[in-house]
Amino acid sequence: MTSLKTDIENTITDEELLELDSKYCSFGDTVHYSKNPKVFHRCDGAYMYDADDTPYLDMQMYFSAANFGYNNRRIIDAVIEQMNTLPQITPKYVHKYKVLLSEKLCKACETRFGEAGRINFNVGGAQAVEDMIKLVRANTHRNSFFAFQGGYHGKTVATTAISSNFKYREKYGHYGDRAHFVPFPYCFRCPFDKKCDSCDFYCVKHFERQFDSEYKGLCNPSDNETEYKAFIAEPVLGTGGYINAPEGYFKELKKVLDKFGIMFIDDEIQMGFYRTGKLWAIENYGVTPDVICFAKSLTNGMNPLSGFWAKEKYINPEKFPPGSAHSTFCSNPIGTRAGYEVMKMIEEENFDVTVPEKGKYFLDGLKEIQKHHKCIGEVGGLGLALRAELVCEDGISPNRELCGKVLAEGLKGDLTYKGQKCGLILHNGGFYKNIITFVPNVYITKDEIDMALELLDVLLTRCE
Ligand SMILES: Cc1ncc(COP(=O)(O)O)c(C=O)c1O
Repeated sequence: MTSLKTDIENTITDEELLELDSKYCSFGDTVHYSKNPKVFHRCDGAYMYDADDTPYLDMQMYFSAANFGYNNRRIIDAVIEQMNTLPQITPKYVHKYKVLLSEKLCKACETRFGEAGRINFNVGGAQAVEDMIKLVRANTHRNSFFAFQGGYHGKTVATTAISSNFKYREKYGHYGDRAHFVPFPYCFRCPFDKKCDSCDFYCVKHFERQFDSEYKGLCNPSDNETEYKAFIAEPVLGTGGYINAPEGYFKELKKVLDKFGIMFIDDEIQMGFYRTGKLWAIENYGVTPDVICFAKSLTNGMNPLSGFWAKEKYINPEKFPPGSAHSTFCSNPIGTRAGYEVMKMIEEENFDVTVPEKGKYFLDGLKEIQKHHKCIGEVGGLGLALRAELVCEDGISPNRELCGKVLAEGLKGDLTYKGQKCGLILHNGGFYKNIITFVPNVYITKDEIDMALELLDVLLTRCE
């Protein structure tokens, strides 16, 4: 086949691209957080490749949107097949993969939680969250949400109202009612200065006490009616630094929510699709959510597709009638085809076993590195959602500067592993942006984990 590429497409250099980027592209996305944005040209498996074809082992995987590896042939072939048959269709009509994927997702939830439900599709995580907000309002007739400090649910105007970062509202305001933000059980820096092994979930008890008087602004104890009728939670904070709640936490929290008739909304947009060793991260905590929002790895980062599952009692056609939430691309055929292939893969493979095994091996390695790098204050995580928190000399003050240096150094592409030139792509998160998050794909090999650990060790030694 003759190439469609023109000369400019074949010959443009990274420097020329960056010059055009700085002239024609808005700086409103996240590229220009970095002073020297990086250009990549191809990706495969666990690696991104630069113009010289140097491989960079990727520990952020498209912000967890490519859990099943870059350029995954099976998903790509499914997409190509779809492109060649029904690449476009107005969302007013029914098509095969929208329905089949909905069935698979509902059955997966029914098996796990014993609850029937339905799926509502959209594109992009924030849009799924926005649609969910409408569902909650339709059901509860109240507007306001509880959400976690450290939680992130999107950057549209409505979702910034329930994402904790004030920075994202500072300039732009917000339409929706701003959430009431509740401290996340971040045990390394306990918001209540307690110790995890002896606190007896003090944070949940503190939360419950907020409902005991009308003067605390949340509840009228004479009829138990609350102003906040939904709690949106990431079981493991994503953007908030891959911090996992301690075992048992969500069971305790859910008791309080049930007592006051508050819906539990599970945001799995970053942690879903086996990031934590389960289809949904909340399964690690043994509670059943009322709604689950998902996106990202549903299609392995191919054609964007997002959505939510809700219990039948909330999403039945009477409660959520035709026209409630929709966009032109909401259940696009390419995304739904990719999602269907992902769900088939999940059914065939054994990620429930392999992801926790790999996660343990990786975390054990991080613990070893921690022993000879005082700058690592804490390591932890769940499945392949791992973190290393960098601190100053005192062992606790966040070391954001060092974290930034390590990330930039990994992107230089001048490391070596087994004699081959390479780089390491890391991402940071957390309240203080001092946490390195490790987000490998679920097929990562033992050798690639060893590579990540060795390169991290080198980078810390260089930058400390
Ligand atoms: C937990 C969570 N919710 C919502 C979103 C928003 O998704 P999107 O960036 O696709 O709008 C993200 C994005 O990172 C996320 O991590």
